[in-house]
Amino acid sequence: RQEALFYVLLVIFGFLFVSENKDDYNDEDEEMAIEIMKRRFTPSVLKTVVWEGYYFADCEIRIKESTDCYGAVVWPSAMVLCHFLETNQEKYTLTDRNVIEIGAGTGLVSIVCSILGANVTATDLPDVLGNLQYNVSFNTKNRCKYFPNVKELTWGKELEKNFPRSSFHFDYIMAADVVYSHPFLEELLVTFNHLCHDDTIIFWAMRFRMEKENKFVDRFQIFFDLELLCDLPSLNIKLFKAVRKKQEISL
Ligand SMILES: *[C@@H]1O[C@H](CO)[C@@H](O)[C@H](O)[C@H]1NC(C)=O
Ligand SMILES: *[C@@H]1O[C@H](CO)[C@@H](O)[C@H](O)[C@H]1NC(C)=O
Repeated sequence: RQEALFYVLLVIFGFLFVSENKDDYNDEDEEMAIEIMKRRFTPSVLKTVVWEGYYFADCEIRIKESTDCYGAVVWPSAMVLCHFLETNQEKYTLTDRNVIEIGAGTGLVSIVCSILGANVTATDLPDVLGNLQYNVSFNTKNRCKYFPNVKELTWGKELEKNFPRSSFHFDYIMAADVVYSHPFLEELLVTFNHLCHDDTIIFWAMRFRMEKENKFVDRFQIFFDLELLCDLPSLNIKLFKAVRKKQEISL
């Protein structure tokens, strides 16, 4: 009986120890995660919700709902990236900068970049471009210095034809959850590499759920210098800044 009591106490202390440590570790992260997720709202008056709302850059952004494949949901990674851009405008100013978003999906990141003053090119696969164009136009009309471009970009395909390196120079490349949504990781690497000049900064928000995402990070680090800007374990999201290493790359 004594032995049983001992084990019960052991389990209780073990539990207390674990939960206490978890609190310490998670406090700041959870506060920030809550602050970021609060930026999403749904209209309360309507019975059937036809759009989702977001507050970023002092603006209300409405993304019409859709249930079709990719680009249908605004993944929290996009919100983390938007929140970072909004709260770090002094350090990373977007005004008058050339920005491209790859795998734009719903367009939230492109919309926020446009509102913050950037000249934005939002890109994705051809089948979601119609929706992307609609939602981007709807939310940037009369609000932005530069009207954003929406353009097809299939990773690794016809990059030089559609985005010739001599005439396109992007200051920033935005990517949210691109690894999660696509199986073509090598093509993604080729795309990043093509779009990058020496002074191009990549902002990349990423939800980690599978081993392949860690593998991609390892591979990515061979060619790019990676810096962790923000780690939100409670959302499983990391935000990275990356610049291309100053060496010739042959992929
Ligand atoms: C964006 O706009 C279109 C309208 O063309 C809409 O049908 C679609 O569901 C919207 N939302 C997303 C998340 O793509
Ligand atoms: C905006 O960006 C596009 C694509 O990079 C470029 O073609 C265009 O010249 C830019 N506009 C201005 C005013 O810089």
